[in-house]
Amino acid sequence: MASVPSLASTVQQRLADGLSAALPDAASADPLLRRSDRADFQANGILALAKRLKGNPRELATKVVEAIPANDVLKEIEVSGPGFLNITVTDAAIIDTLAARAADARLGVPFDESAGTTVIDYAQPNVAKEMHVGHLRSAVIGAAMVEILEFTGETVVRRHHIGDWGTQFGMLIQYLIEHPHELDHSSEAEVSGEEAMSNLNRLYKASRALFDSDEEFKTRARARVVDLQAGDEETLALWQRFVDESKIYFYSVFDKLDMDIRDADVVGESGYNDMLVETCRILEESGVAVRSEGALCVFFDDVKGPDGNPTPLIVQKSDGGFGYAATDLSAIRDRVQNLKATSLLYVVDARQSLHFKMVFETARRAGWLNDEVKAVQLAFGTVLGKDGKPFKTREGETVRLVDLLDEAVDRATAVVREKAEKVGLTETEIVENGQYVGIGAVKYADLSTSAARDYKFDLDQMVSLNGDTSVYLQYAYARIKSIFGKAGDRTPVAHPELELAPAERALGLHLDQFAETVSEAAAEYAPHKLTAYLYQLASLYTTFYDQCPVIKPEPAKEVAENRLFLCDLTARTLHQGMALLGIRTPERL
Ligand code: ARG
Repeated sequence: MASVPSLASTVQQRLADGLSAALPDAASADPLLRRSDRADFQANGILALAKRLKGNPRELATKVVEAIPANDVLKEIEVSGPGFLNITVTDAAIIDTLAARAADARLGVPFDESAGTTVIDYAQPNVAKEMHVGHLRSAVIGAAMVEILEFTGETVVRRHHIGDWGTQFGMLIQYLIEHPHELDHSSEAEVSGEEAMSNLNRLYKASRALFDSDEEFKTRARARVVDLQAGDEETLALWQRFVDESKIYFYSVFDKLDMDIRDADVVGESGYNDMLVETCRILEESGVAVRSEGALCVFFDDVKGPDGNPTPLIVQKSDGGFGYAATDLSAIRDRVQNLKATSLLYVVDARQSLHFKMVFETARRAGWLNDEVKAVQLAFGTVLGKDGKPFKTREGETVRLVDLLDEAVDRATAVVREKAEKVGLTETEIVENGQYVGIGAVKYADLSTSAARDYKFDLDQMVSLNGDTSVYLQYAYARIKSIFGKAGDRTPVAHPELELAPAERALGLHLDQFAETVSEAAAEYAPHKLTAYLYQLASLYTTFYDQCPVIKPEPAKEVAENRLFLCDLTARTLHQGMALLGIRTPERL
């Protein structure tokens, strides 16, 4: 289906036509159309234009209005203030546009004509370590961006850059060699994520304690690092056990998060080992990197330490070891040259921004990034506790992600249970909805403020029925579904001939903005714009529901059908929008 132009874009076009008819030399001027409280839209562009042409803005505005031929979209254009246009559209135009949108399975969201290939780096926990709230943010925001980008036609390649390499594996592997049963499973049955993590945790702590207290063990652990890097088979096989055990745990958490993470997309740091030497050679030969005190370094004019000396990006350490930067640079080569990316998106904590700034700049100097291939860090802020400090337990330890998710689901289940009787939910539905609401609440909290900002993790607020929460949206959706249960033989039918109530107009004009909102969220890597849109949609629907009866008292047939049409489009828009955010919308709640 061809894309459905929004009413806003139609109005914009009519104004632009009027402008060029009235002033042929101002043909390219933007009327600057915005939604407005005073009328449906306001156009502010004539002010700037008048200034440029040294004319009187009110006169110019009047001329533009006169140049717009009579039509069935614009009901009224009023010149106001110093030269704004207040624009009211016809009720028929609203319903007609929405009907075209409703006829499209994509709700009128166009495919982006300039779509390319985005490699998105997200959900990247570390092997043998517990996941924390930072990993949650990356996973949630990243998964939403995957859906939003794919929906607009972008080809998306997912990369989970897990931390699966580094010197700490020397200590872990050596410990396992000396305590060979530490990763054994308690039964033949499939091991749970919880058990896998608790084994790893125990092993990590024990080996760390030994490493710090026993010089001889330390020496053996260091030798083990060398074996690992040299690709010694036995050592690699043990390393693989740590990775596999961790994956059991990661997948259990992603599963809890109702998130689809595929094994083929997990390409951790170790996945680039074969490229590291070559990456360094290219950088050194091209002069992008230079040797400094034995290390291979890239320098930047604007990156200095507290002492005023430049802080380089170290690509290879003086002992020959490679680190985080060499891996990330190799990953860029792979993503650009093999995966043919046109955009690289990194959903990573803002505290790593300096690293990415230096890595991206290095890649630009090397020519791997250029005008055709861009790299962007979608940097997110810190998750804070209720006290406004970085989220910790009372004992000062990092909060286990699993505990957090379980608590969210428990609280959500309680909320669902309270209303369950009225809706007639079965126990199975209560449990299932508790998961959808609890996990939805956690995701929504992550997605409802701009990613860059820190946010407070407050479960009470997150599962509240009133306010900017997922459950508020989920209830709005379920309420619409319940209306359809009561509608009998009345079905949704658009009736452009009807006069609309103010709440119907407001809802309709907002529904009109869905496609633009999705495109904006995709282009700006800003899922929170979609979230804000959906919240407002649910709010406008609530007002509509209060003011415009659909079933009781029973309105005239056409009015009921038209209202059901608005209900249906609202439900579909909520469902689609929430799906893009990774949040379920239960039919009954
Ligand atoms: N594993 C890292 C961490 O836990 C995040 C990896 C981010 N991605 C990357 N390409 N460096 O902090």
